[in-house]
Amino acid sequence: MLDHYTLLAPVYDLATARVLSPLRETVGRLVAEKGFVRVLDVGCGTGVQCVMLHALGCRTTGLDASPAMLARARRQSPAGVAYVRSDASGMPFADTAFDAAIISLALHENKPAVRTAILKEMRRVVRPGGGLLLVDYLRPETPVARLGSLAAHLPERIAGKAHYQGFISFLEAGGAQTALSEIDARVVQTIPFFFGAVGLVEARTA
Ligand SMILES: C[S@@+](CC[C@H](N)C(=O)[O-])C[C@H]1O[C@@H](n2cnc3c(N)ncnc32)[C@H](O)[C@@H]1O
Repeated sequence: MLDHYTLLAPVYDLATARVLSPLRETVGRLVAEKGFVRVLDVGCGTGVQCVMLHALGCRTTGLDASPAMLARARRQSPAGVAYVRSDASGMPFADTAFDAAIISLALHENKPAVRTAILKEMRRVVRPGGGLLLVDYLRPETPVARLGSLAAHLPERIAGKAHYQGFISFLEAGGAQTALSEIDARVVQTIPFFFGAVGLVEARTA
């Protein structure tokens, strides 16, 4: 399989560390507040969020399809973080194996049917009453958010044709606000970032 992240992996942390740190800290705070221990990071990339969750005392597993991103994640993580290479649309975990699952900036790049399969898998592997945390583009609802969303087109285009098509179809389908309506989950809150261009949607499994 072609790894679209081979070129990006070496520079990913450098390019994103500062800008994504408020998102990651908010994810960590929510996980800690709710007392979630067994936590899965879907599309974990270079493992920065996994390392943070591990430091907070979580039993953390990162899943990703990209060997290049996973290689970096393994290199920069303590031994206690587990990494699994798999497509997120079919995860090698038992039902209810986790207290919470996170997917951060990894859903939008997939085709609609794959996005649905990923969310259903997240729902399946999280215990009843557990947490689902989705960080992704919001459908912009204010002029400022629309500007932020427009700014995202350039990096999303650079990421490749299929990635960009996923991004466009994700926004057309309603963005992160509506993504979780496809599965049996109760949205608790949406926390906006970057003037409402991106959001953290927190939900509970039924
Ligand atoms: C933009 S990076 C985000 C990484 C990390 N979550 C973060 O917030 O920095 C997207 C990651 O999601 C992974 N990904 C996207 N779709 C996936 C899928 N269907 N199955 C597994 N991994 C996927 C990619 O390989 C990549 O590492």
